[in-house]
Amino acid sequence: MRLTVIGTGYLGAVHAACMAEIGHDVLGIDVDARRIKALAEGRAPFFEPGLDEVLARNVASGRLRFTTCLREAAGFSELHFVCVGTPQHGDSPAADLSHVDAVIDGLALHLRQDALVVGKSTVPVGTAERLTARLAAHVPTGIKAEVAWNPEFLRQGLAVHDTLRPDRLVAGVTTARADAVLRAVYAPMLTAGVPYISTDPATAELVKMAANSFLATKISFINAMAEVCDTVGADVVTLADAIGHDPRIGRRFLSAGLGFGGGCLPKDLRAFAARAQELGVDHAVSFLRQVDEINLHQRWRTVTAARDLVGGDLVGHRIAVLGATFKPDSDDVRDSPSLTVAAELHRQGAEVRVHDPQGIENARTALPGPHYEDEVSEACRDADAVLHLTEWSEYRSLDPDALAALVHTPALLDARNSLDTGRWVSAGWNVRALGRPATAPYPDFRKPSVTTPRTWQP
Ligand code: UDX
Repeated sequence: MRLTVIGTGYLGAVHAACMAEIGHDVLGIDVDARRIKALAEGRAPFFEPGLDEVLARNVASGRLRFTTCLREAAGFSELHFVCVGTPQHGDSPAADLSHVDAVIDGLALHLRQDALVVGKSTVPVGTAERLTARLAAHVPTGIKAEVAWNPEFLRQGLAVHDTLRPDRLVAGVTTARADAVLRAVYAPMLTAGVPYISTDPATAELVKMAANSFLATKISFINAMAEVCDTVGADVVTLADAIGHDPRIGRRFLSAGLGFGGGCLPKDLRAFAARAQELGVDHAVSFLRQVDEINLHQRWRTVTAARDLVGGDLVGHRIAVLGATFKPDSDDVRDSPSLTVAAELHRQGAEVRVHDPQGIENARTALPGPHYEDEVSEACRDADAVLHLTEWSEYRSLDPDALAALVHTPALLDARNSLDTGRWVSAGWNVRALGRPATAPYPDFRKPSVTTPRTWQP
């Protein structure tokens, strides 16, 4: 099938490449000429494991092309996937839909044939209905344009896998024709047994919001438990393992620590709450605000734990920060918890040295204050404390003995609860974690400083 993918960010670039990979003839469109140039050369403009290979293969085969011209896209196919960003609005918690609206207006201007416009971006419920009217008002007479919603559930770092082998496909459609088109697009996945849920657009839009809200709630739940554990000297990791054995609960997304960030979960929570308020059902999802608050509070808890680790005052202390991205296997620093912590440590007078395997360039742009180091050893040299803030696998294989010889004081905060802290303790490190009893002679681990919740500017 011939199809276009409009918007080639973390979602669209992967979608375009994977649609070509399963045999479609794909044209990707973006307003960013530098990004389009890289993609057209078969290179991903950001770090996503496996994407370069899929891009290169399909660009070389001629099945995948890129352009900055929306008019060309409108003429290329009758099927258009919309993958542009829906970030948080500058001055409110709601989603900024200006990019989606601009695509619809642009398409409407150039359409000379009937079209099925399929939204994949995460949007507030009711968007497909609104865009249907917007499109109808602007397309030339005689042209039929339909809007469907087909939310995407891919995880960054696993995006190629998740797109080629999704858990489920959700199609929010208003006609049998749109349903048939989407079934044909995803035929290889359907043949492989991937569940396909056909529903109305409003339900499809809500499925995405509900899924992300549920995942965020799970993380904030375990982080709330971690804080309770800290006050009584209990262990949140054992607690998560124990409750996770119950299949009704499940262990996944119960990793306590610094909390969630990135371009999706935080802004989707806020956009959902904002949309519920507009719809007059604010009370039904008011807990989402608390989920957000608990999450942001983990950043303060981490700053406080770091301050405790260096004796109560950060001024003049050298702090090594391991990890800048919001999660491992990504170069994305959007709403990265680790960068919020690094910024606050810097603001409180620490000399912060940040290492990240892939995210240094983006981090430097987002947060110019700290020093950025290409080597873990340089970030840790003469440090008064080492903070493990993003769980890259390479940090798990660090040698605590070798690192102990480099630092000024062997003090570690594992804010992701994913290091083998026993090894670090054996190597002489004073280890602190969030929600876990101190495993080293940390003098007052049963009396951690009280961190009064403060409101971060989300
Ligand atoms: C998320 C959803 O998982 C995905 O389905 C949706 O399409 C986009 O948003 P992503 O943003 O890639 O995907 O990250 P995810 O793997 O969900 O992790 C989000 C954040 O939660 C990360 O900062 C991660 O470190 C944190 N997290 C995750 C935890 O703190 N604890 C956990 O147990 C799991």
